[in-house]
Amino acid sequence: MRKKVIAANWKMYKTPAEARKFMEEFVPLVKGHHRDHIVICPPLTDLHVVVEAAKETNVHVGAQNVYWELEGAYTGEISCGMLRGVGCEYVIIGHSERRQYFGETDDTVNRKVEVALENGLTPIMCIGEVLEERDANLTEDVLRRQVMRGLRGISGRKAAKLVIAYEPVWAIGTGKTATKEQAQEAHAFIRKQIKKLYNDRAGETVRIQYGGSVKADNARELMSQPDVDGVLVGGASLKADDFVGIINGAVEATKAGK
Ligand code: PGA
Repeated sequence: MRKKVIAANWKMYKTPAEARKFMEEFVPLVKGHHRDHIVICPPLTDLHVVVEAAKETNVHVGAQNVYWELEGAYTGEISCGMLRGVGCEYVIIGHSERRQYFGETDDTVNRKVEVALENGLTPIMCIGEVLEERDANLTEDVLRRQVMRGLRGISGRKAAKLVIAYEPVWAIGTGKTATKEQAQEAHAFIRKQIKKLYNDRAGETVRIQYGGSVKADNARELMSQPDVDGVLVGGASLKADDFVGIINGAVEATKAGK
């Protein structure tokens, strides 16, 4: 059984003081939950506070972006070594907001995924179609392209460690979630691409999260699908109670046999 990854993407929300308050409330509520991996991805300026509060707990920490060079004159950028040094284990790469507003492409995603895997970070590689692409029946073409280009030159052994987040762009922050059938269909297709690119084993090992308007009341249903191995949560991860509700959804999905 693949371990689910339930990750909070705080985007550009919360000051260090707000992050500390969240963690004080959240950590005791998920104590003892070891079945799944719980990950908080705060803004860079909150990493210290969140890592400190997560120390010796079952809560893991990730960043929302990284640069592909290891060091150098790249004003404003952050390297894998810096993220590892502060205590990050995960890093979100190629989120649709970064593709949309900050010029990220499949090629930059590929460079970042590669460097993260080589430097001890688990990438959460985000992929997903926009509404026009879904309406034009292009979802599979887009997902195939994003997987193939995002993983270009990366070995199967390394790629097996990766987490992929399937986030249909039309579902992000819109309150419009993919149905469980739509999610399962896309996830199964993505897994098939990994198997084709590498082998069955890599395909069975890679964890594929769903993201896009995940809430406590749809989390269980989504994570009950055979190929949905967790969720990446934006809005509903900002309040401890809401996020705990989603984690409980994962527990129920596991109890029900997934
Ligand atoms: P949302 O965001 O849960 O607010 O839709 C998800 C994401 O962007 O990762």
